[in-house]
This record gives sequence, structure tokens and C-alpha cells, in this order.
Amino acid sequence: MNRIDTLMARMTLSEKLGQLTMTASGYTVTGPVIAGDSTQSIIDGTIGNLLNMVGAGPAHEMQRLAVEQSRLGIPLLIGLDIVHGHRTLFPIPLAEAGIFDEAVWERTAREAAREGAADGLAMTFAPMLDVSRDPRWGRTAEGPGEDPWLNGRIAQAKVRGFQGSDLSSAESLAACAKHFVAYSPVTAGREYAAVDISERTLREVHLPGFVAAIEAGVATLMPAFTDLNGVPMTAHVPLLRDWLRGEMGFDGVIVSDYNAIAELIEHGVAADLVDAAVLALKAGVDIDMMADAYRKGLPVALEQGRVTIDEIDACVRRVLRLKEQLGLFDDPYRRGATPEPAAVIAERHALARDVARKVIVMLKNERDTLPLPATAKAPGALAVIGPLADASTEMKGPWWGAGEHEPAVSVLAGLRAALPQTDIRHAPGVAIDSADDSGIEAAVALCDGADAVLLCLGERATMSGEAASRATPALPGRQQALAEAVTARAQALGIPVVAILFSGRPLVVPWLAEHADALLAAWFLGVEAGHAIADVLTGRVSPSGRTPMSWPRAVGQVPIWFGQRPTGRPMNPADYYTSKYQDVDNTPLYAFGHGLTYGRFRYDELHVEPRRVREQGTLTISVTLRNEGAREAEETVFLFVRAKVSLVTRPLLELKGYAKLRLMPGVAGSVKLKLPATELRYLGPDLQPLFEAGEVDVFVGPSAEPTGLLQQTIELC
Ligand code: BGC
Repeated sequence: MNRIDTLMARMTLSEKLGQLTMTASGYTVTGPVIAGDSTQSIIDGTIGNLLNMVGAGPAHEMQRLAVEQSRLGIPLLIGLDIVHGHRTLFPIPLAEAGIFDEAVWERTAREAAREGAADGLAMTFAPMLDVSRDPRWGRTAEGPGEDPWLNGRIAQAKVRGFQGSDLSSAESLAACAKHFVAYSPVTAGREYAAVDISERTLREVHLPGFVAAIEAGVATLMPAFTDLNGVPMTAHVPLLRDWLRGEMGFDGVIVSDYNAIAELIEHGVAADLVDAAVLALKAGVDIDMMADAYRKGLPVALEQGRVTIDEIDACVRRVLRLKEQLGLFDDPYRRGATPEPAAVIAERHALARDVARKVIVMLKNERDTLPLPATAKAPGALAVIGPLADASTEMKGPWWGAGEHEPAVSVLAGLRAALPQTDIRHAPGVAIDSADDSGIEAAVALCDGADAVLLCLGERATMSGEAASRATPALPGRQQALAEAVTARAQALGIPVVAILFSGRPLVVPWLAEHADALLAAWFLGVEAGHAIADVLTGRVSPSGRTPMSWPRAVGQVPIWFGQRPTGRPMNPADYYTSKYQDVDNTPLYAFGHGLTYGRFRYDELHVEPRRVREQGTLTISVTLRNEGAREAEETVFLFVRAKVSLVTRPLLELKGYAKLRLMPGVAGSVKLKLPATELRYLGPDLQPLFEAGEVDVFVGPSAEPTGLLQQTIELC
């Protein structure tokens, strides 16, 4: 008999249910001190998995209880949310999506895994694969932005990064694709609210990221808190059992979200914990995180004949197999056995800085305001104003994992380090979200004698992330008043205003977009934020980040994304009865993919070969670019398609590829993209994949903004 069969034969029901239970360490330990009862549960074998444990010391201490003191010695599975770095925090996932670089997506996950594993962890609850088109929803910050194809690329890179090539390595973590599925389109952007979407949107937009993660071998998966068209995901038999386990053949571990099984009662589909446990088990949820529904409910359900021991055993086997794959039986202490050398941590910080400066999106740069000309080279004066200028903690972003007490570099500190000769003055002006504007006057006074004003505005880190929906995702508090007062003074003095926005989502900032001379989206950049921003402001690095979400002009445009389907009455200002608003343009303020560089790229000569292609063929798309700007820069080139006529209405643009090209000033170069024609399949009227003959427009350009795209038509045959 193999190890799992041997164990299964010896396990009691309560030991089995222990393997299906995950408890927060706060439940188990108070700080580093282990609290009575739950510790005993580990020894009794009735808690088999933990979350929220920080530090190799406590993790090993817990592991010893399980391995050395419990009857069967089954090691614990210990997990934590490592969403954008563990101790060394990287830019938030939304920001990192805009780097369009698979090697980077993989590398930051790899480094986060190494760092988390060095803390004794074996699992992360990431990547988060919720495509979001609604900036009101705070968890937009944790995900890939608005595009499903991009989501798939990220999903695969992240799974590779977290899990490495060998799950049992002391540097690998089990990844968890979450939140399955369609959590983001919550009603009116309100966290945890009901979701009601079509089967087509589910299949075209929300499932592909999970398909990609499964193809990459993701070890675990987490159902969303929400219901989908009336069925809570934690109890969703058609999607969890039939589609995921059945159609997709996913045989990894399904772990519930935090207390989600018990919340089936609030959803109104279970009368009590027994009911809830039955529903989740039948749907295929293996591990109950924090509801304690399996331990309390399944013995009763078993007795009543509502579940079978075989159903329970199947879950236990999956959990034990995961522990085996992670190498926990062979050496439960391999993760966290040796502290990481200082050089490894320093290198990781260098990576965090490099990634942070590459994800900053330059939304606007009028009259080449940036890079800061005089101050970059000679002493001068900068007025650094706003509540986010000296806010190192905020730089870390909403999911700081184990990095809560790690130092982070503020904008002010970064600038002072980069420009030691410059007179850098600072006033916050206002607090992030208070109504007090008594500090505005002093902030305005700082402009006198300055060469430029840097306005550091935006959200507190905790204004995005879980449970952080905002009905008005704009500048909070009195920041708009601060921006107006400072900009008026700067204009009177003839000095430029550079606004730097910190947020976990696109913000609605039409005034700033119009009046600031330059505008940067800095999202939340992690521990090296200030250095990264200084690198971009001073021109040490040309910005290259692209926005992975459309920026609305007004909240009423939400949800807004580039891949909307056409209407029978396209917008026409001259025709009253067309699809438009009376009070705002249809277009976003900034389109998906938008992001300027310090170069200026001209696109020409788009070639698509062959002109006629069969399903098994491949298109080669090449485009020539010339950097007509004065500085070296890296351009991101996007590839979109649109079929001219199909059996169902299809998105106006579909992303199918991207490429990057770095060019010196005055130099031309070309990029080549390959597109297998199978990627031009779509879901037909019956939602089955269809390769339909006909003409397809191929577009290439710097963003999803239609006027900037080059176009060629090819024929599918
Ligand atoms: C979140 C999950 C997370 C879990 C464990 C929940 O509240 O929705 O994304 O993995 O907590 O921390």
C-alpha cells in the first residue's frame, strides 16, 4: 500500500475531517504564543491546515505538534495570502498586469514564493484571476484588469512562478487560482453582492483565466464568496463538480474562501451548518476554511445518510496528495530551514524597484514636462505636495502579507535620495480623506520659488482590496480642492504641475487630466515605490507601464472596457437616436493599453501574412516603428482582431497579442507577432467553439484607442 492508502486505512472520521479543516493561526496562536484548545486540536489530528501564520519559527513549532505529537504524524499545510509579495512587496497585481511581460510576472511570483517558503509556508492564496471592468469594486487592485486574454497569460506565468518546476522544492508554494468564478461583476460594484451574468460572458470573460491556470498545473483553487445567477459558488455543482472536476479534469484541492461554507446560510440556501457542509461537499469543496462546518456538520450528515464516507474520503485523499506533492511528508521542515542570505533579499529589493518603475503609467505629458529637466541635473526647488507624498505605509498597497512592518520608500524619501542637491519642500495640504482643508494655504505657499510642483494624490491603500468598494472612485476628502488651489498658483507662477496618483483602481479624475501638465498612475508600487518614482521623474528610466483597465470620465460610464459588443445604433453626435450619453462622451478618459514613454513612436508598415488562412495556419504580423522622440524608450505594441461578420455579435476589439520594442531616438525597428488561427475561434450561438470562414480585421497599435490603430484585413477559409 502506498502512504496515502496506509494513512486512509488508519484514520478516524474526526482525523479525516481534520484534514478538511483550515484554521487561522490567530485562532491557534495569540501572537507567537500558542493558545490552548486549537493547539490541542493539532495534536489530536482534528486541525490539518492553517492560514495566516507568519514566520518560520512559529510555523515549525506548529508543524512539530502535528508531525511529532499527533497520532498519525500528518504534516500541516500552512498557507498565507502572498498576493503581491511576501515581505518584499511588489507593485499590486493590477499595476503589474500593465507591464505586459511574462518573465516579470513569473519572476515576482517566484521571488514571493521563495520568500514565503523561507518563512515556512507551503501555500499561497494567489493568483487572483478576477477580470474587472468596474473600478468601484475594490478587489480590482488584486487582479489582472479588464481583459480575459491578458488574464490567461498572467495566470500561467503566476502559477509557474509560485509553483516552480517542482512543487516539492523548498522554494515552491502551491498556488491557488481564485476566486472561482465571476466574482468581480458584483451588483453595482458592491463587495460580496450578488452576480448575475450571461453564460456567454461567463465562458468568454471569466472562465478562460481558470482554464489557463489549470493548464499550467495550478495545485488548488478557491470558489468565490458570491452567488452566480442564484447559486452560491461554494455550492455550485454545475461549475465546481461538473465543469471543473468533470469537463476540465481538475483533480487538485478546492479550498473554500474564509467562512464561506457557513455563509451559505446567509445566502439563504442552507438552513444550518449541516446543510451548508452537505452542499459544499457535494459541490466538491475539499477544505473548509474557517467555517468549521465540516467538523461540526459532516458527522451528522453522514449519520443521516446525506453524504457518504466515500465522498469525504475523496476530499481527504486530495488533501493528502497535495501534502505529498509538496514534499511535506518527506521533510515537513524543509521550507524555512535556513534564513535567506542578505544578498538574496537585496536582490529582491532591486527587482521590486525595477518592476515598480516599469509599471508606472504616464497618462499625460504635455510639452515634455517630464522628465524634470533642470532639477534632474542641477540644484533647484521642488514643491512636493499632497497626502501621499510622505506616506510610506500606503505605498505597500492593500495586501501586504507579511510585509506589514517592512519599511517602504515614500515619494519624498525617494526624491531626496535621487536629488540630494535639490531644495525639496513638502506639505501634505490635506489628509487623504478628511474634510479639513486648513492646510491648503500652506501647501499653496510652497509653490513660490519652486521649479515644479509634484502633487501626490489618491487613495489610502485600504481604500482598495477586499471589502473596499467605493461608489465614487475619485479623489477622496478635500484633495480635489487642494489640487485646484495648487494648480492655480502654479499656473500663475508659470511652473508645471506633475500629478502622481496612488490607487488600487482607475480613478475618475477628469479635472486633473485636463489641468495637470503631466499625470502618472503609480497605483501602489510596493516597498521601493519612492525610488521607482524618482527614477521615472528624473528620466533615469523612461516610463513603459500601460493601463490594464480603461479610465472612466464619469462614474456613470462604469462598467467600461474596450471589448464591448457593438450596438445597432453606433454613437453619432448628429443623430439623436444613437447609443450615447447626453452629458459625457462614450469613450474612456484613457483607453486600455494607454501609457506614454519618453520616446515618441510612429507606427507604419503593417504586414499580415498570409492573407488567406485556414484553421491550422498561423498569421505572422509585423509592424515597423520609429522612435521620433528625443529619448530611448520601450514601446508596447498591441494586437487586436475583429471579425467583420459572424453568427453572434462579438467584441469591437479582441486582444490577441502584444510585443515590446526598445528603440534609441531616431531609430526604426520592427516587431513580429505570431497568431495561430485557432485563436480566432469564438463561441458560436450554441456556445461551442467555432472557426467561421470570413473576413477578419487585424489591428496593431499603442493601445485600444481605435484612432491609433493600423489595420489589415485577412480572410479565414
Ligand atoms: C479572501 C480571500 C483570501 C482569504 C484568506 C478572504 O477574505 O476573499 O481572497 O484568500 O480571505 O485570507
